[in-house]
Amino acid sequence: MTRRKLVAGNWKMHGLAADLREIEAIAAAAAQNPEVDVAMCVPAILIERAVRAVPRFAIGAQDVHHAEKGAHTGCTSAAMLVDAGARLTIVGHSERREGQRESDDEVRAKATAGLAAGLDVILCVGESLPVREAGDAVATVAAQLDASLPANSERLAIAYEPIWAIGTGKVPTVDDIAAMHSALRSRLVAAFGASGQAVRILYGGSVKGSNADEIFAVADVDGALVGGASLAAADFIPIIEAAARG
Ligand code: PGA
Repeated sequence: MTRRKLVAGNWKMHGLAADLREIEAIAAAAAQNPEVDVAMCVPAILIERAVRAVPRFAIGAQDVHHAEKGAHTGCTSAAMLVDAGARLTIVGHSERREGQRESDDEVRAKATAGLAAGLDVILCVGESLPVREAGDAVATVAAQLDASLPANSERLAIAYEPIWAIGTGKVPTVDDIAAMHSALRSRLVAAFGASGQAVRILYGGSVKGSNADEIFAVADVDGALVGGASLAAADFIPIIEAAARG
């Protein structure tokens, strides 16, 4: 099955109003590469301004609370993200699983809430270095996926992000990426039947213009989730162009 590639940026806790000019340049490049889906997940406080700056471009959030509303100080609901103009959200990023102690159950609830509100959801999974070194990466990440999956696969994408590859410049071998993505594809088909074939599986972790072609050539790699190289248009646009080639 042919799946359109998705290149999504994740600004993490970076970005002020002045940085919106980077998104304007990225949106212009995205418009020139219509065969690729491109999105940028910005800090919640920037979503509305980013949407105003580039109304035709997909702006997303980096997290969402699982509840519709209520006494959750400091949190943002899916309806609030939609109201601000967001089209997607990341859930279960390892920096939240670790830093905010988010469990698989919590991630599943967040994914469910995002999809129910009409957002596209990028659900992240990935192993730590000790797990990789012990040879348990595929089994561990497959189990993490099973435990985090929402009931519905429509508008869902998965991002495989080895924790040890995030922001480190280290990238798994193409064989290791292929083995993991193939295992995740099998789990998606086990969970969703034929619809599991339509779910995009992104790779994330130190993706750059210089390695994007090689990564996008791997079977079952349907795009990328990009942190550091998404902050500047000059770094991100070559990744969009690589996806358009691949
Ligand atoms: P990186 O981050 O591209 O800076 O490695 C990826 C991510 O955390 O999504």
